[in-house]
Amino acid sequence: MRIIHARPDDVTKLLRFREEAAAWLTRLGSDQWQRPYPADRLLATIEAGSVFMVMDGDATAATITLTPYAEDGLWTDQELAEPSRFVTKLTVARMHAGQNIGGRLLDWAGDRALSEGAKWLRLDAWTTNEALQRYYLRQGFEHVRTVLEGGAVNGGPRVSGWLAQRLATSADHGFSDLTC
Ligand SMILES: CC(C)(COP(=O)(O)OP(=O)(O)OC[C@H]1O[C@@H](n2cnc3c(N)ncnc32)[C@H](O)[C@@H]1OP(=O)(O)O)[C@@H](O)C(=O)NCCC(=O)NCCS
Repeated sequence: MRIIHARPDDVTKLLRFREEAAAWLTRLGSDQWQRPYPADRLLATIEAGSVFMVMDGDATAATITLTPYAEDGLWTDQELAEPSRFVTKLTVARMHAGQNIGGRLLDWAGDRALSEGAKWLRLDAWTTNEALQRYYLRQGFEHVRTVLEGGAVNGGPRVSGWLAQRLATSADHGFSDLTC
């Protein structure tokens, strides 16, 4: 499997990818990712070079966004003063689940973060999804705190406010090198 940068014409594919994950999450009984993700925001992160896809032959097995920019209102100024990379939208296709591709992708992200000079790999996970939070704890992240307010809709509940971090370290993730 190899990792490539997403391109602007991957927007439709990646939005469909997310919808498939949302449908699976609904079956699990979670309210995570039920609102459609804005295409313009996705396009902007692709154009910034922050969106990556794991390719298994011609099939997209997974995606991750890795960015130096944190969402507003989650991390303190002191935390933001520490060099960090932020993981968002980590998704593995259901037909590729159960193979730890997500874990390897987090290792890849930590490795890349370290090579870019970051100390921390950080993320925010769905506030109400304890199964997802346990997944990140199993992947070696430590829970920092949960931010409950300041969400996008009128500053209401923060849907993705479970903050976690782990040190950025070099890792043998097993993906072939980024080719573009
Ligand atoms: C999180 C994810 C990328 C992990 O991929 P992976 O390392 O290949 O691991 P798997 O998909 O096999 O999942 C591992 C376990 O976590 C559980 N899990 C993963 N995401 C979950 C979620 N959002 N809600 C509840 N459980 C979840 C799986 O059910 C599985 O449980 P099991 O071991 O009891 O079968 C992948 O499960 C996924 O795409 N989840 C949906 C999207 C998501 O929540 N992304 C995280 C955004 S912060």
